Amino acid sequence: MKMSKVVVMDHPLISHKLSIMRHKDTKSKEFRELLNEIASLMTFDICRDLKTKEVEIETPICVAKFKQLDKDIIIVPILRAGLGMVDGLLALIPSARVGHIGMYRDEETCQPVFYYYKMPAEKERMVILTDPMLATGGSACDAIARLKEDGFTNIRMMALVASPEGVKVVTEAHPDVDIYVASVDEGLNDRKYILPGLGDAGDRIFGTK
Ligand code: PRP
Ligand code: URA
Repeated sequence: MKMSKVVVMDHPLISHKLSIMRHKDTKSKEFRELLNEIASLMTFDICRDLKTKEVEIETPICVAKFKQLDKDIIIVPILRAGLGMVDGLLALIPSARVGHIGMYRDEETCQPVFYYYKMPAEKERMVILTDPMLATGGSACDAIARLKEDGFTNIRMMALVASPEGVKVVTEAHPDVDIYVASVDEGLNDRKYILPGLGDAGDRIFGTK
């Protein structure tokens, strides 16, 4: 049986940028810029084994065969905070399509509440689900389940900061989904926020608090 691969992308450039995002005084503009920069850097590795096809191209010297992406991918942010990673991915894969899954965490129960779903039709394409925070793992699990119900089978998750608990929940529920994350932090606090984390990612991206 397949087991999820969990890739912690602690490259010095990513760790440096993430440390600035974690600072409580970092403002939304810089927070957004850094989040997209990290998403771009993570795209490089998450797409390492994408399928390619050979195409014939005429260079100024001769005609030869070269590799190009076989199929475009679908980027799927979990609203709202996942939106903060989309431009970073699109910067490297401008032809990607973008689906959306709307979900928020109920403040009392910390359970995900689903409110929106819109995906492109091509079920055979690879999906990269984006959400900066993987805390209890509830939102990611439900989003992946929704994608599978709709017929998508090739799904990867790109997160920024995860808790060990959240990683366990998602990998046990969806062992076929690989997770790429910049950091696995210490754990969750009593309000189910990631420790030390970076606070509420959606609020920090959009300046809503
Ligand atoms: C945050 C975050 C994830 C979720 C993670 O979203 O962006 O979607 O919480 O928590 P979980 O792993 O415990 O489910 P939030 O509910 O704050 O919504 P927002 O993005 O609209 O701010
Ligand atoms: N959602 C966030 O934005 N941050 C956390 O630490 C947990 C859930």
